[in-house]
Amino acid sequence: MALMELYSTLETLLTISEPKEKIRLFREFYDAYRRGEISRDVTSIPIIFATPSYHGYCKVIDPQDVPRRTKLYTPHGQILLLHAIAHIEYSAIDLALDAVYRFRGLGEAFEEDWLVVADDEVRHFEMIVTLLEELGSYYGAFPVHDALFEASQRTLDLYERMAVVPRYLEANGLDATPLILRKLEPFQNDPIIQKIIAALHVILEEEVDHVRKGDVWFEYACKQENKELLSYFEIIEKHYPNSFPRKVDVNCDARKRAGFDHNELAKISLNRC
Ligand SMILES: [Fe+2]
Ligand SMILES: [Fe+2]
Repeated sequence: MALMELYSTLETLLTISEPKEKIRLFREFYDAYRRGEISRDVTSIPIIFATPSYHGYCKVIDPQDVPRRTKLYTPHGQILLLHAIAHIEYSAIDLALDAVYRFRGLGEAFEEDWLVVADDEVRHFEMIVTLLEELGSYYGAFPVHDALFEASQRTLDLYERMAVVPRYLEANGLDATPLILRKLEPFQNDPIIQKIIAALHVILEEEVDHVRKGDVWFEYACKQENKELLSYFEIIEKHYPNSFPRKVDVNCDARKRAGFDHNELAKISLNRC
């Protein structure tokens, strides 16, 4: 039996746009990976992708032009919210796979960490799509932005990638989810709202672990590059100027569990964490 080759399989996964096909191949690959039935072509070189995988499946537009969710008590508002979350989760599958594809030679602990994350993101995506379908819609029904893909393409080394993707973008998600939950709470007698709330709680809890993994590997990258941990703020300032202190309520508890320390939180949060 021919073994699946790690990097070429990841490259294929990162170019499949159709969700069902991507998830089917991911599960086949991840099963083989966990059984140790894969090979590694260490001579291959990662390519830089020109377009995100979902290009062609979803219409990609400017972030400002993405339809905004408004009234969360209406099915249309719920659909727009779920579509936006489904897109974040779908993009996050690729971001996790891209880390394993691009940053090589870091050992199996690195691969395993980001494949666990990819597997979580697949589940998150499926959970949200199920609710979207319950409301009569589907992923791809609305145009999307490619901000997460763009962030990954601007951070092609481990040091910047870990700072920007898990420790900034996913960490911001830890702040954003409780705000969405608070907006949904007044309508929690509605069964679909109850399901959305339950899904968001699962996502929020599991995302803490993604940020935590980013924290571990950012620290590793800092040691490799001979940088201070606080250089995190220089990286974020370069890519997302004037982001700190955050203008929204910071989820201090989740961020602490995800590895942010006292000094960092003092810069990140307007309020005392
Ligand atoms: Fe997720
Ligand atoms: Fe995540």
